[in-house]
Amino acid sequence: MRTAVCPGSFDPITLGHLDVIGRAAEIFDRVIVAVGVNSGKRYLFDGEERLALAKAAVADIPGVEVELLHGLIADFAREHQATAIVKGLRGVADFDSEQMMAMLNRHLTGIETLFLVSSQELTHVASSYVKDIASHGGSVSALVPPVVAAALSAKFEHEHKLEHKKG
Ligand code: PNS
Repeated sequence: MRTAVCPGSFDPITLGHLDVIGRAAEIFDRVIVAVGVNSGKRYLFDGEERLALAKAAVADIPGVEVELLHGLIADFAREHQATAIVKGLRGVADFDSEQMMAMLNRHLTGIETLFLVSSQELTHVASSYVKDIASHGGSVSALVPPVVAAALSAKFEHEHKLEHKKG
C-alpha cells in the first residue's frame, strides 16, 4: 500500500488544495491530509476548525483521510509509513520555499517530496486571497467548497458583529 501525505495549513482548504489532493489520490492508495501549523502564519480558523473543514471537503474522495499534524511533517510521514509528501505548485512564487522545505524534509528523514503542478484554472486560488475577498463580502463560491464558503461567511459575520459592539 502506497501512502502519500499532503501537508498544509489549509486555512481554509480551497478548490486548489482539493485538486492536488484528488490527483494524489489517483496515484497513491492512501492520502493523508495533514493539517499543520506554519509558525510564520497567523490563522483565521483554529486547528480543529481547519481539520473539520478539510474533513468535510474531502469526504467524497475515496482513499483520503485527514489528521492534525503536531510536530514535524518529516516525522509524521515516517510514522505513517508514507512513501512521499505531495504538494502543489502554482508557479515560481511557490517554488523557493517549497524547494527548501523539500530539501530539509529529505535531510531530516529521507522522505521525498513530489510536486504536482496545479491545474491551470486554479493557479490563482490561494487561501490568503480567499480570506481577504470573503472579509470584504465578496463571493468565494468558485474558489472553495460550499462548506468552506459557509464557514467564511459565518466567521466574518461574527467578527463584524463584534466590531459593531465595540464601536
Ligand atoms: O500551507 P502552508 O502554510 O505552506 O503549510 C506549511 C506546513 C504546515 C506544511 C509546514 O509549515 C510544515 O510542514 N509544518 C510542520 C512543521 C515542520 O515540519 N516544519 C519544518 C518544515 S521544513
